[in-house]
Amino acid sequence: MIAGVGAAVPAGILTNADLEKTLDTSDAWIVERTGIRQRHIAAPTETLTSYSLVAAQQAMARAGVTAKDLDGIIFATVTPDRRLPSAACDLQAALGADRAWAFDVVAACPGWLFGISVAEGLMRAALGDTILVVGAEKLSSITDYTDRGTAILFGDGAGAAVLKRATDDGRAILSTYMGADGNLASLLHIPGGGSAEPLTEALVHEKRHLIQMAGREVFKAAVLAMSRSTDAAIDRAGITADDIDIMIPHQANLRIIEATAKHAEISMNKVMVNVDRYGNTSSASIPLAIAQAEAEGRLKPGMMTMLVSFGAGFTWASVVVRW
Ligand code: ACO
Repeated sequence: MIAGVGAAVPAGILTNADLEKTLDTSDAWIVERTGIRQRHIAAPTETLTSYSLVAAQQAMARAGVTAKDLDGIIFATVTPDRRLPSAACDLQAALGADRAWAFDVVAACPGWLFGISVAEGLMRAALGDTILVVGAEKLSSITDYTDRGTAILFGDGAGAAVLKRATDDGRAILSTYMGADGNLASLLHIPGGGSAEPLTEALVHEKRHLIQMAGREVFKAAVLAMSRSTDAAIDRAGITADDIDIMIPHQANLRIIEATAKHAEISMNKVMVNVDRYGNTSSASIPLAIAQAEAEGRLKPGMMTMLVSFGAGFTWASVVVRW
């Protein structure tokens, strides 16, 4: 079961009006095509570990566990503070979780759902009773702010959950589903900076260390994968769409969210949307939306909750939880 969720974002805010000053774009276009009004952006000195720590401590306080209780840490991110070691190891040290094993999951936007699925499997294999799953990004560090096709979309943030064994009151993870299609990788990727094309001055000059995206193609693939993932989650949990009390999808674009809900025949008043406040924060997006839904009283214990996401890879995942 998900015993506690926490979230944190850097204080800095980049509004659509700010972007209008440097890009050939407008607030009206961004709101109409994406639903985004602002995003939180980390200051250069703010590390991923610093705001992930806040989210993790909040999740642990809500779950009633301390760092010493953690058996493991799974950290979903594509923007670790450094290439080596993992973001999970940096967070383990910051938390003082000295009993916990720690590793990263690299699955882009659905990374946090992949992490939840992996944690659930490890618990079933008796490899942990209390596992912290973090989804956090500093996407501002890999965004090309001269490219209006991507600069308007992304934001920074962190979310975290503590997973514990299911309790007698029925709160549990009811189904998990993961998928991938690496054939479509080049539609949304960072071409350089890996071991195939290590960082050089020329590579940085050509901005090959930053996100490149074919927006229209990604949009179509996102709607398809989100819809299929929703169907799979419902199927695997042995429920119907009518049983869903709240759907908390990846916050990439309001139109993708609306198309997914329409496909699943889930009314938009059951769908959590906060893309307007945070933009697309990749693996942090669902836990950030969960934390807000709980704070607003929209997500309560016992609710049948559908989580669904899609991202670079392509990757997709869904999880059904009796909250
Ligand atoms: N401001 C103004 N005009 C723009 C902007 C902008 N920021 N960006 C693109 N345009 C223009 C284009 O140049 C194009 O002009 P043209 O018709 O003269 O050629 C026109 O708007 C339409 O462009 P499209 O790319 O077709 O616009 P679309 O409606 O598809 O919106 C967007 C673009 C917002 C990027 C959309 O495709 C999208 O959201 N795609 C999915 C992106 C996404 O979710 N990615 C992440 C998923 S995975 C993950 O989360 C990492």
